[in-house]
Amino acid sequence: MADAGRKVTMSSIPNTHSDTLYDRAVEVIPAGLMSNLKRSSGFVPYYKTHGAGARLYDVDGNEHIDFNLSYGSAILGHSHPGLRAALHRQADALYTYHSNQLQIEAAERVLACIPSAQKMRFACSGVEANRAALRVARAFTGRNQYVRFQGHYHGQMDHLMGGIVPDPENPVPVEGTIEGDSFTRWMYTAGRTRDDYHQVYLLEWNDAEALEGLLRQRGDDIAAVIMEPVMLNHGGCMPEPGYLERVRALCTQYGVVLIFDEVLTGFRMGLHGAQGQFGVMPDMTALGKALGSGVPVSAFCGRNDLMDLIASGTVIEAGTFNGHPLSMAAVVATLDALGEDGGAVYQRMEALGSLLREGLLQLAAQHGEPVLMQGFPTCHTLLFTDRPRLRNHAETLGIDFGRGGRFFQLLLNRGVECYGRFCISAAHTERDIQDTLERVDDALADLAPGSTPTR
Ligand SMILES: Cc1ncc(COP(=O)(O)O)c(C=O)c1O
Repeated sequence: MADAGRKVTMSSIPNTHSDTLYDRAVEVIPAGLMSNLKRSSGFVPYYKTHGAGARLYDVDGNEHIDFNLSYGSAILGHSHPGLRAALHRQADALYTYHSNQLQIEAAERVLACIPSAQKMRFACSGVEANRAALRVARAFTGRNQYVRFQGHYHGQMDHLMGGIVPDPENPVPVEGTIEGDSFTRWMYTAGRTRDDYHQVYLLEWNDAEALEGLLRQRGDDIAAVIMEPVMLNHGGCMPEPGYLERVRALCTQYGVVLIFDEVLTGFRMGLHGAQGQFGVMPDMTALGKALGSGVPVSAFCGRNDLMDLIASGTVIEAGTFNGHPLSMAAVVATLDALGEDGGAVYQRMEALGSLLREGLLQLAAQHGEPVLMQGFPTCHTLLFTDRPRLRNHAETLGIDFGRGGRFFQLLLNRGVECYGRFCISAAHTERDIQDTLERVDDALADLAPGSTPTR
């Protein structure tokens, strides 16, 4: 199992030391990896030693251009001087948990950026932020069920992740996968609590009628609707014009708490997140990833009347490391850097993302490869399909994710760190994009029909 696909080709960068480390890793770590979602078994990572700007370096001395950015987190790139200095300062002063002034400074900055937020709490991971938002929503409404959407990812809690819907008339998920579908396969796990799905309705996204129908029938039992405002975890689908507005109106009509999971879009889709971009305000928001530019931290925030349930102790929200001084130093440094000149850095990042997209589409056309790039400039998803647009999970069924997987493996072997999503950081340069496009050209040339991953 662990040895699958480790053959080295002419185009692969050297990997002797990484392979040796991987052999050691599988002896002590399942699959040698810290997360199944960081590639499946058989995937051999290049072990990184350090980073600078948009480039990472590994134990074999290879240089990688990074578009993964710690799964969307490292918005400032690697070794950012301001962030590094802030971490050093804080490590020298206090690196154990206590109430600290930086918590207030970080919270003030987050609230200044996220338009719907009046109060906030920090946590450590995205899944914790979503769980907290759901708990507040249940306490606020006195209802139990909630709605989420196929193709969206909110973290690895049993009920928050995965499932398939056998009967769309009664969209309660059950454990399972859809034949040929990469998303449900990735989200499948044994060992889930069996009745956990009884609190969930699972719908297709970008389908306001489906949500309206469900709320009409069962609105009295539904505490929350949770979604990624852009479906970045599968296909990079954008909301259809008017969709988010209709969801907002329906939630208001039925007294349902609308939660935007902005763990990926927050501080990536501009300084004010997807809600700022689309002008649609959720009741609660989950943040993570770019919030600390690679340092582990998350947050949930919302209106005063919701968050006051925590202040009064009606809702408990706890965590040993919530608001840890090192994370807080990272948040302050990150948001200060991103907010400079009114967030001007986003224009630069967006220009580079657009340059990459145009170049990639052009190269794919030259190689006769039908591809689609969806999402937004600082986070595009590349899909191998001749369809002009994909709006939700149902529309992604049948597209060639295997070909995409092969292509991204070829890119990894050429020193381009990307697993489907091209995230841009403040540190990327035009040179990074040009170098990437050269490697893309080479990888596309190698993407012969039926070729298999090489490492
Ligand atoms: C949109 C979204 N929400 C939540 C999460 C879970 O975050 P974490 O892995 O920090 O728990 C992720 C992680 O990829 C995500 O992309």
